[in-house]
Amino acid sequence: MPTRPLRIAPSILSADFARLGAEVEAIDAAGADYIHIDVMDGHFVPNISFGAPIMKSVRGVTKKTFDCHLMIAPADAYLADFANGGADIITVHAEAGPHLHRSLQAIRALGKKAGVALNPATPVSTIQHVIDDVDLVLIMSVNPGFGGQSFIRESLTKIAQAHALIGGRDIDLEVDGGVTAANAKEIVAAGANVLVAGSAIYGGNDPATYAGRIQAIRDAVNTHNA
Ligand code: DX5
Ligand code: ZN
Repeated sequence: MPTRPLRIAPSILSADFARLGAEVEAIDAAGADYIHIDVMDGHFVPNISFGAPIMKSVRGVTKKTFDCHLMIAPADAYLADFANGGADIITVHAEAGPHLHRSLQAIRALGKKAGVALNPATPVSTIQHVIDDVDLVLIMSVNPGFGGQSFIRESLTKIAQAHALIGGRDIDLEVDGGVTAANAKEIVAAGANVLVAGSAIYGGNDPATYAGRIQAIRDAVNTHNA
């Protein structure tokens, strides 16, 4: 069971962008803990989503934590834009540049929480020497770039390894990609406490369903039969 509070982080990548403000408001009202912001550059990942101005445009509709996942390379030149645009947590990929430690220091110097993300093929040992420089570790359970992909089961091993590396530190352990009510319990059992979900929550883009979908994930984690 989680040693830290369970947090559900719906990804606005699967929101209806034509009414993005309303979609963020709806997910706030439905019980989201973090708002997960997927930024893609068409270079680090094979897809383009949006940048800091779009994120900033919806900052005013919620007080919830903006959990900003940068799938961009290089990232350093854009960190200030995301900090100034209202991100609370800024996560960079360990694979995005040669100077991860510098990127993490830069995020904290901007007064924001620093996260590091690992692609499926990147070992957890990659971050062992920066673990005291992060506030969040993100284990990618799909290859980043698109919503709606299937959870890669080997990720469970990496989640457990990251959980062990984190130990008693004040660090969120987040999992992103293919998370549903059907696998949430084993993901949390492996040690995660922040669950990103795009299609499992925003799928269908019907605000009337969001609270039930978030609650279904919480309930799945809290059931007592494995
Ligand atoms: C993938 C993104 C994820 C994505 C998750 O590149 O980082 O946050 O939106 O979408 P689902 O939950 O549909 O896999
Ligand atoms: Zn993400």
